[in-house]
Amino acid sequence: MIPAKTVQEILDAVRIEEVIGDFVSLRKRGVNLLGLCPFHNEKTPSFNVSPTRNIFKCFGCGKGGDAISFLKEHESFSYPDALRWLARKYNIEIEEIERSPEQMAEQQAADSLYIVNDFALQHFQEQLFDTDEGKSVALSYFKQRGLRESTIRHFGLGYAPDQRDLLLRRAKTTGHSVDLLKKTGLCSQDATRDFFRGRVMFAIHNLSGKVAAFAGRTMSSDKTIPKYVNSPETEIYVKNKTLYGAFQAKKSIRQLDECILVEGYMDVISLYQAGIENVVASSGTSLTEGQLQLIKRNTSNLKILYDGDPAGIKAALRGLDLALEQDLNVRIALLPDGEDPDSYVQKVGSEAFKSYVDQESKDFILFKTHVLLEETKGDPIKKAGLVRDIVASIARIPDPIKRSVYLRECAGLLEVSEEALVGESNKMITTAVRKKQEKDARTPGAASDSSDNAQLPYAPVTEKSHPEKLQKRPSSGDTPQENQIIRVLLLHGTQKLPEGNTVAEYVLTGLEEALNSFDDPISGSIAKEIYDHFSATGEVLHNSHFLNHGNPDVQNLTLALMSEADEYSPNWDEKGYPLQNQPKPEFNFPKESIDSLDYFTMRKLKKMCEIHNPNRIKAAFEAGDIEEGTRCLKIQMKLKDSYNMLAKKHNIVTLP
Ligand code: GTP
Ligand code: MN
Repeated sequence: MIPAKTVQEILDAVRIEEVIGDFVSLRKRGVNLLGLCPFHNEKTPSFNVSPTRNIFKCFGCGKGGDAISFLKEHESFSYPDALRWLARKYNIEIEEIERSPEQMAEQQAADSLYIVNDFALQHFQEQLFDTDEGKSVALSYFKQRGLRESTIRHFGLGYAPDQRDLLLRRAKTTGHSVDLLKKTGLCSQDATRDFFRGRVMFAIHNLSGKVAAFAGRTMSSDKTIPKYVNSPETEIYVKNKTLYGAFQAKKSIRQLDECILVEGYMDVISLYQAGIENVVASSGTSLTEGQLQLIKRNTSNLKILYDGDPAGIKAALRGLDLALEQDLNVRIALLPDGEDPDSYVQKVGSEAFKSYVDQESKDFILFKTHVLLEETKGDPIKKAGLVRDIVASIARIPDPIKRSVYLRECAGLLEVSEEALVGESNKMITTAVRKKQEKDARTPGAASDSSDNAQLPYAPVTEKSHPEKLQKRPSSGDTPQENQIIRVLLLHGTQKLPEGNTVAEYVLTGLEEALNSFDDPISGSIAKEIYDHFSATGEVLHNSHFLNHGNPDVQNLTLALMSEADEYSPNWDEKGYPLQNQPKPEFNFPKESIDSLDYFTMRKLKKMCEIHNPNRIKAAFEAGDIEEGTRCLKIQMKLKDSYNMLAKKHNIVTLP
């Protein structure tokens, strides 16, 4: 289970346009965004996303809700899975509570691995900073490579002396489990030798800053021993989902909306020290899908810095089609001959480095086209292969507009007709889609993505489905006032009134007496849920709770109320609502809240005055209960006074 506090944090972070934008291409239209509805087939967009309300609604098929409803519908997620997806997107860590026994065991196992790694990190750091050997051999090595002590500490660097079982012995004397040491790969499986010996150490952190693994670099230049050795994969260290430096870089990547990718540990550390903090390393392997997703969650802009020979670069380029599939904008910069990011930034400094990279970086597709063209000069057969290679990359791009821009540009560069490239690209896309459909058909139950058809180049055109518009339910009695008060609670419940209390506190206090006398049962049940939850926890239920409610009537009413325009207020019977000269909606909520409660209260008071209480008076006197009759008469006076006070405030006819 996800703790309520985290749920709130997630819901607060969510921006609906960013979530839906991951699946549907949206265009700005006034304050809202508009796109083709992924839930039914349409050619003219009627799918509306409202950033201010944080909801979406399709005027074609009537579907609507918040980001969670969208993910449930579009990705077939459960409510908690939708929350987890959003938490990942917004980098919110979920510490789940009340887990199943298996989950608890898993978590405990993971925790114990982290504890052992922490212990090892401490050991390696002590060896580096607090021993003579460490200082003279390892610390001096780092310093000679240009690292400052603060950087060395920030990245959790350390030293493992060249001794057989120093860490093992230390673990035994401090009561750490040798089994766990084995599991993390810190010692040999027979527990006789340390794994890292005679190396400087690099801690590899997970995204939340816990030490998941280590890498050790030899300080010798002997080419016959491996330069780096790494911890093996464990439950807490999955290589293809790890990017070195991601924890340290995360904030900067989001701020700058760009991720720089380099190859080596030292490159990350060196650039970071030079003030270029949005850097991660793939650790010498080509990028995996998991790593790309990690990047994509933080930014759509990836800049790759390459050093090395043309052959290596060509191989690297091949792996990058995966990045295009993730809809990342990929740029590539080649460093000057013989330099890697670390050496180059130490040589020229961070400003010169940055401007070099800015000037030199090229769009990936165009870069690839240039590199391959260079190679095939004058060889028509090779060139045909190259054209297909490039188009294969372009066909991976999900955004059709981007695709067509690239096709045009590359047609120019390759000196072939644009039509030919478009035709080739469409062929590849159709084949890919057909393959996917066949695969889906073979695996029954696999949700076939309903938006697929919309992206097919030759989308089967089907009849526009009948729009079942959101229907306003017939309203009776006090329903408009009741709906309005719920609307205020849903939209503004947590906002603060000038007096310092929240709208919810204010409204719910006034609502208390009337909770059981709602004419509209749906509004009534929402009011009760909000009230009960607030009494129990002091928190206002998020509107997401109602947009994803088990009762579809509750869902629908919530959506209808939340998507009502601000300019609209239910037609009060008492009087019209002067709207022309009001402040903007976001500043108007105190007045809206207070007025709504007033009108609601007046309706309830009036009913008490005119029906319920007179009935009670009559019954009491008829039964000869003078005392009760008198009490109800007094109540009648009070009710009338309260009503008239509100009526005067709002210029409404008072009760006689
Ligand atoms: P320096 O040579 O100290 O500047 O290190 P570097 O981090 O720049 O390494 P380099 O550019 O040589 O290699 C890039 C990355 O590939 C390294 O950071 C490692 O992640 C990985 N790598 C390099 N050599 C080895 C190796 O021998 N074994 C393993 N497992 N990984 C390696
Ligand atoms: Mn290097």
